[in-house]
Amino acid sequence: MALATAGCYNPDSDLLQKVESLGLYKGLRKALGLSPGEILDEVARSGLRGRGGAGFTAAVKWEAALRSPGGPPYLVCNADEGAPGTFKDRVILEADPHRLIEGLLIAALALGSTEAFVYLNHGYALARRRLARVLEQAGAEGLLALPGRALKVSIFPAPGSYISGEETALLETIEGKRGVPRPRPPFPTESGLHGRPTVVQNVETLSCLPFIITGGAAAFRRLGTSGSPGTRVFSVSGDLMRPAVVEMPCGTTLRRVLEAAGAKPLPGRSWKFFLLGGAGGGILPASMDSIPLDFEAPARLGLSLGSGAILAFDDSRSAARAACQAAAFFAEESCGWCAPCRQGTAMQHAILEDMLAGSSRPEDGELLGAVIEALRLGSACGLGQAASRAVETARRAFPDEFPAGYGEADQ
Ligand SMILES: Cc1cc2nc3c(=O)[nH]c(=O)nc-3n(C[C@H](O)[C@H](O)[C@H](O)COP(=O)(O)O)c2cc1C
Ligand code: SF4
Repeated sequence: MALATAGCYNPDSDLLQKVESLGLYKGLRKALGLSPGEILDEVARSGLRGRGGAGFTAAVKWEAALRSPGGPPYLVCNADEGAPGTFKDRVILEADPHRLIEGLLIAALALGSTEAFVYLNHGYALARRRLARVLEQAGAEGLLALPGRALKVSIFPAPGSYISGEETALLETIEGKRGVPRPRPPFPTESGLHGRPTVVQNVETLSCLPFIITGGAAAFRRLGTSGSPGTRVFSVSGDLMRPAVVEMPCGTTLRRVLEAAGAKPLPGRSWKFFLLGGAGGGILPASMDSIPLDFEAPARLGLSLGSGAILAFDDSRSAARAACQAAAFFAEESCGWCAPCRQGTAMQHAILEDMLAGSSRPEDGELLGAVIEALRLGSACGLGQAASRAVETARRAFPDEFPAGYGEADQ
């Protein structure tokens, strides 16, 4: 069942007349007949949660922004997509851009926004061209003329670091500053872009809105689970013949998602583990592929589905090496603003490299445990807080690949 990616199979999905004949912009037309409060109520009833990583309930965010003085809120579509193994937003942006713009317009109607941004990954050249084209078409058709105002929509080229996708770092860069996270509170919904309330939503989150408004919240809730309604769009890659993007109801098992993506191990190989949620998500042994992919089940295992990346690793791989590569990524991408992450990510990576090279010092195991704890508890933003997840989950699932007691935080 595809809703966020429903138009991705239409070769003319960037032509307004073609998408309108397939039902796109029906949600916007219906929303134009509703009050902002009625749109918000429908989205609240749908239970839509953010698809960019944190899984925060969209309607709660909108309500917070509407309560904050200094409105109307800015609306930002987060299309930075900088996490390794994540490419589902790119597919939506390139193959179904009108759906995203329709979702953006529905959100802007509910929020009363006069200005919106699409914060676009700097490498997504085709997406940029298509977005510019569909915005031009939507403008020419008068679709950006919301009641009492014209919505100004700008495409903002993201600077190209992983941290710039973090919503407060993102706001800093739109303001022309260095992309480092802001201390919270205040949250962007209270004081975001230029101090005004701001709602930041992921591409996929916004692309669910046309279905919710057209089909109704109940139809959305019939898909997925009670805690995770709707669908998820997964990016599937790694040791397999062909990477794929596939949309499935939330709570579908990992095994079924892989089947639907047509993912198979390379000839003569079998899968050993999966890196769920990209570098910050965590390592799951292949024997646990019956796990339901909703917001809750991975969290109970200390994992996170993040923005829906699934990276498959086969039996030629070492989980400790994969964890070390994730650690290298975080050491490289740390913005350096807070000490636990600036120093912790570098130390974590160095300790793991030594361990893999067989040149560890006796005290390194205990030191790694302390570093992991400092990262988790002391980091100022989600990057540092998630930087040890792959290491911890790899150690738990594949203890034989780590020296005894290595990295246990409670030593
Ligand atoms: C280091 C880091 C990078 C992030 N990168 C992205 C990103 O590329 N795209 C995205 O939508 N959210 C990203 N997020 C999450 C955003 O901060 C924010 O929660 C999200 O855009 C909100 O939209 P949603 O509620 O629709 O998911 C990132 C978070 C962190 C900590
Ligand atoms: S946790 Fe890391 S990325 Fe986040 S603010 Fe601190 S140094 Fe920067």
